Amino acid sequence: MTEKKAILKVEGRDDLELPILTPTLGRDEIDVSSLTANGLFTFDPGFTSTASCESKITYIDGEVGKLLHRGYSIEELAAKSDYLEVCYLLLNGELPNAEQKEAFVGTVKNHTMVHEQIRNFFNGFRRDAHPMAIMCGVVGALSAFYHDSLDITNPEHREITAYRLIAKMPTIAAMCYKYGLGQPLMYPRNDLGYAENFLHMMFGNPCEETQVSPTLARAMDKIFILHADHEQNASTSTVRLAGSSGANPFACIAAGISALWGPAHGGANEAVLNMLDEIGDISQIETYIAKAKDKNDPFKLMGFGHRVYKNYDPRATVMRESCHEVLNELGVNDPKLELAMKLEEIALSDPYFKEKKLFPNVDFYSGIILKAIGIPTSMFTVIFALSRTVGWVAHWNEMISNPYKIGRPRQLYTGEKERHLVPLNERK
Ligand code: SDX
Repeated sequence: MTEKKAILKVEGRDDLELPILTPTLGRDEIDVSSLTANGLFTFDPGFTSTASCESKITYIDGEVGKLLHRGYSIEELAAKSDYLEVCYLLLNGELPNAEQKEAFVGTVKNHTMVHEQIRNFFNGFRRDAHPMAIMCGVVGALSAFYHDSLDITNPEHREITAYRLIAKMPTIAAMCYKYGLGQPLMYPRNDLGYAENFLHMMFGNPCEETQVSPTLARAMDKIFILHADHEQNASTSTVRLAGSSGANPFACIAAGISALWGPAHGGANEAVLNMLDEIGDISQIETYIAKAKDKNDPFKLMGFGHRVYKNYDPRATVMRESCHEVLNELGVNDPKLELAMKLEEIALSDPYFKEKKLFPNVDFYSGIILKAIGIPTSMFTVIFALSRTVGWVAHWNEMISNPYKIGRPRQLYTGEKERHLVPLNERK
């Protein structure tokens, strides 16, 4: 098939032929990498029209609200799979068979503990430190403990690092929570499932046997699945950019955690609950919708809108259904769910939100389930980081195991032309 081309016509220059790349799914893309050699750059703040890399891991069709991980829809994975299976799929490209799954789960279980010295890091933090601040610090420090596996060109080092990160993030996340409470930091129990073990470390204590509700464990596991990966979002792009310099994977994941923390990204789930608290009750919804529409008001409807989805975020739909299931099974009647659903209904009928194609995203309902599970708002983004670690590692590994260049964007310079320094005693 003849290669499709784009013809770039620039006044005063010869026409430039640019190759058009055709993906398995999605839009054709113009390869602009030859522009530099022709004395031109592209300008695309926020990368709204720019593909930064080739990837086989996740595909999003924002127009129809579709999310595929290695070709499987998020709806099917959330309903029929579990988080560690999705981890295997994201890392290896295929779902595991029974033998592969048993081996994968067994290896993860053998890495759930952190080095005892890691526990000392926590004592350096104030008890009221935000758990994301602690997680950034502790995960970044992990590279100080694994000198045996920091050769990023060695596939075995990359593999053991993936296992260590997937296995240890729940342990570290729970330690961040327990430290804030002043309660003993819990050890993992390898007789428990992944989500069950996390809830054990979060809510258990050394004085009694932990009983983890299967309903909550299943809801937690589904939340982990829904947050596992999402293509080249801000934090994943941060991990790729950090990794492109050859930085070790623990440092790259710590960079991803930092990027995720922002309220425009993974910090939105915490911001949604704070927003619902601020709105208070249904009578205030119209007031806050007006604020969200007011260009002069910085208030945004948290949990709404998305760079890619211009339709429902399919994860939000699964999350909303799971909200009802979990709250009904727990017999919880959380007025925040009713408030959130009313807010969604009013916003989606408003011309502003319809015109700008602003729909609920993954963060809109997740906090309500997390709250029902008993997780404090300050831990919501920590859980997002825990879940997304496998996505970050899968993208990092995909980049490092193929030819890559250091990421180095250019700029549109609008500063001063060259000028000469005036001696201090002559300056006005
Ligand atoms: C995540 O990228 C990913 O994949 C991220 C993520 C993942 O899994 O990794 O999906 C997770 O980060 C979900 C998004 C969570 N963030 C929020 O819920 C915060 C609230 N949302 C907004 O901040 C915003 O929608 C973003 C940041 C999510 C997207 O911003 P964009 O793509 O830069 O779009 P934009 O800000 O240019 O918005 C387009 C218009 C603007 O108005 P105009 O300038 O055109 O007049 O819509 C308006 C915005 O002001 N707008 C909103 C709004 N979101 C966008 N107005 C009110 N409330 C909102 N929530």
